[in-house]
Amino acid sequence: MKKIIFLFAFVVYLTSCSSEKSCDTSNVSYKSNIKPIIDNYCSNCHGASFEMMGNNIKLDSYDLLKEKINDVVKAVNHAPNFSPMPKMMPKLNDCDIKMLEAWSAKGCPNN
Ligand code: HEC
Repeated sequence: MKKIIFLFAFVVYLTSCSSEKSCDTSNVSYKSNIKPIIDNYCSNCHGASFEMMGNNIKLDSYDLLKEKINDVVKAVNHAPNFSPMPKMMPKLNDCDIKMLEAWSAKGCPNN
């Protein structure tokens, strides 16, 4: 029994420090939070000079991303009726998804 309680406490400890603290979306910034996510996970297929598999969605500038942000938030959350993104790769981590949601909710500040 003691072992189980210990294990449980350890799991709670692990999950509590990994997620919340490191994901502060209050000062979400296009330049330092959002653009790096797009550059790392999306621009290979959604860049200006490249049309991967016939898709014509460009996300590699502020204006282009802003225009598509509602679809982007749905696609990275694997919402029904949306093609799950990034395509053929694992789902983005929770913090990256929260950053995109927070940026969208704030009206896409160009900061
Ligand atoms: C390996 C190439 C590839 C990567 C990486 C990729 N996409 Fe896509 N994306 C596509 C293709 C191709 C389509 C066209 C629909 C389809 O074939 O699934 C698409 C479609 C979309 C759509 C429209 C989805 C819909 O159902 O209307 C959005 C939004 C999108 N991508 C956003 C993103 C975002 C955001 C990322 C990065 C997190 C990303 N994509 C990464 C290839 C990619």
